[in-house]
Amino acid sequence: MTLTPKPGVLDIDVYVPGRSQAAGATRVYKLSSNESPFGPSPAAIAAYEDARKLLGMYPEGTAQILREAVAAHFGLAADRIVCGNGSDEILTLLANAYVRSGDEVIFSEHAFSLYKIATLANSGVPVEIPAPELLFDVDAAIAHISPRTRLVYIANPNNPTANYLPSAELRRLHHALPDSAILVIDAAYAEYVRRNDYEAGIELAGASRNVVMTRTFSKVYGLAGIRVGWGYCPKAIADAVNRIRAPFNVNVAAQRAAVAALGDRAHIEQALRHNEVWRARLIEQIRAAGYRVDDSVANFILIHFPDLPGRSSADADRFLMSRGIILRGCASYGLPQCLRVTVASEEGNLAALAALRDFANRR
Ligand SMILES: Cc1ncc(COP(=O)(O)O)c(C=O)c1O
Repeated sequence: MTLTPKPGVLDIDVYVPGRSQAAGATRVYKLSSNESPFGPSPAAIAAYEDARKLLGMYPEGTAQILREAVAAHFGLAADRIVCGNGSDEILTLLANAYVRSGDEVIFSEHAFSLYKIATLANSGVPVEIPAPELLFDVDAAIAHISPRTRLVYIANPNNPTANYLPSAELRRLHHALPDSAILVIDAAYAEYVRRNDYEAGIELAGASRNVVMTRTFSKVYGLAGIRVGWGYCPKAIADAVNRIRAPFNVNVAAQRAAVAALGDRAHIEQALRHNEVWRARLIEQIRAAGYRVDDSVANFILIHFPDLPGRSSADADRFLMSRGIILRGCASYGLPQCLRVTVASEEGNLAALAALRDFANRR
């Protein structure tokens, strides 16, 4: 017998990360991975450096200090929080724990690509719901629920479309799910949303037996490099995930830096204020330069390009890269005519705007 991976594994398209290099450019602006232009809080950096004393020993295995800090910060039960090596890990562990061969996993077209990867890795069946308006279609998702449905992943807000599903719609989706399926609310960008009809999912996860909310320290907390995320789960789900989680999955420096990051509210507020101001300016000015841009509730913006020679997203990408401006191509999200731009530092935003204007004005 030949050696082959589990069914589904070889159907996986390898995850395409945001690029970080622009050959030949003297100054590079990486606006491709939705990282915070402010980086981590100085307190988080100090905690990280202090963790050098502990490098020789295993960390506490359940990320207790972090679970307790998150619980206190958000008013949650610490024993229902599971921390991960990025929220990616929690999203993956949920599939590993619950998806059997042939089980169905629902997610939207143009959603975060990890959902499909985690499904196929468990020999599950991806059920991708068309999103003609680029928004999660609740009615279509409900129509696809079956006895084989095990997970429904929704990124809220969604990456890369930067839109969100209002709370009433999220609850309507949950209401239609049987107890045998879990609604996984991936709220990686929750902090950035300022809408009265939005909820990250804390109350839903707190009050239901089949809702998990995931959050990350990679975005507004500026800690993408050391990989910390967490999920708020019903007790039985936390128990299942903890059984298959690697015993020391969140390293000691990550635990300590994340606790410190949570405590520095001023740093977070500053990053959020900057995002509010620059997101609005970027949308307005990119539109003024002649591009089609969707509204955004997150820290990134989706720009649409016409499928015309010399004006396409690929042409724009080449032009921007030659100026050292790295955006995120969206072909792997099923949006080949779009580029995604992260709200960056003032300098990075101005450089991106200038390059986009110059590209639009090219003859
Ligand atoms: C929608 C969404 N969910 C989850 C993640 C993963 O975040 P983490 O760095 O916590 O693994 C990302 C990262 O880009 C994301 O865009």
